[in-house]
Amino acid sequence: MISDNITRDADGTLRFAGHSADELADTFGTPLYLMDEKRIRDNCRMYLAAFREHFGENSAVLYAAKACAFKAICRIAAEEGMGLDAVSVGEIHTALEAGFPADRIYFHGDAKTDDDIRYALDRNVGCFVVDNETELEALSAETKRRSVRQKVLLRVTPGIDPHTYEAVNTGTVDVKFGVPIETGQALEFVRRALDEESLDVAGLHCHVGSEVFDEDVFERTCDVMTAFMARLRRELGYTARELDLGGGYGVRYVESDPRADIPARIGEVASHLKRILGEAGLPMPRILMEPGRSIVADAGMTVYTVCTVKHIPNCKNYVITDGGMADDPRWCLYRARYSVLHASRETGENEIFDLAGRCCESGDIVQPAVELPADTRRGDRVCVCTTGAYNYSMASNYNRLGRPPVVMLTGGSAWTAVRRETAEDLCALDL
Ligand code: LLP
Repeated sequence: MISDNITRDADGTLRFAGHSADELADTFGTPLYLMDEKRIRDNCRMYLAAFREHFGENSAVLYAAKACAFKAICRIAAEEGMGLDAVSVGEIHTALEAGFPADRIYFHGDAKTDDDIRYALDRNVGCFVVDNETELEALSAETKRRSVRQKVLLRVTPGIDPHTYEAVNTGTVDVKFGVPIETGQALEFVRRALDEESLDVAGLHCHVGSEVFDEDVFERTCDVMTAFMARLRRELGYTARELDLGGGYGVRYVESDPRADIPARIGEVASHLKRILGEAGLPMPRILMEPGRSIVADAGMTVYTVCTVKHIPNCKNYVITDGGMADDPRWCLYRARYSVLHASRETGENEIFDLAGRCCESGDIVQPAVELPADTRRGDRVCVCTTGAYNYSMASNYNRLGRPPVVMLTGGSAWTAVRRETAEDLCALDL
């Protein structure tokens, strides 16, 4: 199985975190997002333990809420001692509603409006990650007006190509995020920020991309950031106290994906960073990372009910379900790969199907060319694995479809963390 929280009984019953996917579908309906609470907590603990060991007690791991944000998940992240990377008022509000401590929230985003800035200042959000000079001006004007001093990190672009797919590459000079180091603009950005009395420039932030597998991506990032920090010290007399290396470790969606040993990688990054900082004569800053996908992806599974099976001779077979691109747009957007499993049987006789959804367009494919039992039929359940990240958070109401509920699996119990969106909910905003 693609993840060790998925098992199959001798009679074919597929289990996720010990629960039968078919039974959960009977109880909660489909499409259905499942989340394995223990796996979320284990992933948080894995990061936190590795960070404490290699970067010391004052290091921090922020959960990137964009991967999947609702109150229960924020509560779990808070309980585990994570910080939070939030990119919108919606994510901050969700976290605060869940009791997430405001001082552990880092407010990211490349286009914060004046309202966003005011909202976050009103709630004493711990740190702003300032993306650009325009935001710097807006934030500094508002903090001056309030006579407050706000902690900030400055987002710079290290010019690293993480060799991931283009839509999630964020480290190269041409991306819309942050201020590039190689053009000299980042140095001016820091100089400007240091002039602002109302801003406490704690340090630097960078994020090179998502689904990072190349072994040396974070090491190369550290090389660039260390050289930049050394330059800041030389030219501006400024020493960064914090360095946020962003998120990005990849997860396994299909068997051919590599298995990243994240704690081992963190250890390697730490020893590399300590060495190069030492060589540059710089003190070790407080290190942060902000993983999203690798905290929640393998804690998720989506269950669908098959509505139609179509065989087009000498061409293609479709399994068409009650879900689709509205609850999982990732194949449509990124050609993302997934492992797909039948919920109640494994036969020797399989056929290749495109797993399609109920949306009214031919491109509504959740995964092409998946192997499922040849006798897959209406009423069967199929499960898409590793859907905990960027599925619920990217779901839409396309075709006026209600978003599926999120059911948390905690030991032997299954409970609704987010209820199903009904047709009435969909009309609730219409005046
Ligand atoms: N920090 C920053 C500044 C980010 O932009 C991101 C992701 C993260 C942290 C978390 O990265 P992760 O650990 O999850 O890779 N919707 C796409 C992924 C977009 C990632 C955006 N930024 C997908 O479905 O694959």
